Amino acid sequence: MGMDERASGNPGMPLIPPRRGLTPSRFLLAVAYIIVVGFVYCFFQQNPNHPLNPHTVYKHAGQQPSAPKTVIKVVEPSVERELVPLEAHIMSKCPDAKDCLRDLVLPVMQRTLDKVNFTLSFIGRPTEHDDGVACKHGAEECLGNIIELCAQELYPDPKTYLGFVMCLTRDYRHIPQRGLIEDCALEHAIDFDKLNKCATKDDGGYGMGMLRRSVKRTSAAGVTKSCTVRLNEEIYCVRDNGQWKECPHGSSVNDLVIAIEKLYHQNA
Ligand SMILES: *[C@@H]1O[C@H](CO)[C@@H](O)[C@H](O)[C@H]1NC(C)=O
Repeated sequence: MGMDERASGNPGMPLIPPRRGLTPSRFLLAVAYIIVVGFVYCFFQQNPNHPLNPHTVYKHAGQQPSAPKTVIKVVEPSVERELVPLEAHIMSKCPDAKDCLRDLVLPVMQRTLDKVNFTLSFIGRPTEHDDGVACKHGAEECLGNIIELCAQELYPDPKTYLGFVMCLTRDYRHIPQRGLIEDCALEHAIDFDKLNKCATKDDGGYGMGMLRRSVKRTSAAGVTKSCTVRLNEEIYCVRDNGQWKECPHGSSVNDLVIAIEKLYHQNA
């Protein structure tokens, strides 16, 4: 039984009373209005960089705000600074790469995403006779490296490709099996066909070229161990045989976040 039936059964009492005072529907409308306005206000307060935030207008218009000091404080963090170079040198089928990404690189990136220019590089040896690369864990590892480089090229946002690389690395023994790559691609909104095209382009020559440039970049930096983390072009920490080594500034997430923030603020 609906409300209408009841209303028609009692014609003396209108379903919607005349406009006077506070009806339940007008009260609900007022509450909804307050919630929406409150939400919009909080959203802009928490997003000083949002283009619709009135505070950011000052910065884009390039005018001195005649507003109180608190407004200037809101603008301050959005001053553009140079990004801090952070790099991880890995091999796709290496257990140390797994620990290194899971325990240090990813949690640090979650906290410093907008301050860092992140690069994922690979360790291997360029071979001269065939323009190839020799990988420690064989041809399967080379292919895994190429797939990860393709992901980095196709989806340069570290949130996407680092998530994908972490997904593969968690199950590194199965790299480069198609099922694993498809699952991880799906999980991180990566187009498997695009990835496959990149890895097989020019009979694999395109991907191999990327891998050669990457391993040459690694050896030019003097890096030989997977996983090596470099901050601002210098070795920051090495994960080797299940242990952290050569980490004079500390191997914890907090240590690296603090080091990045210090460098970032020096880049003003
Ligand atoms: C990030 O670093 C790479 C080298 O790893 C460099 O080619 C690129 O220009 C840098 N990008 C920015 C935005 O600093």
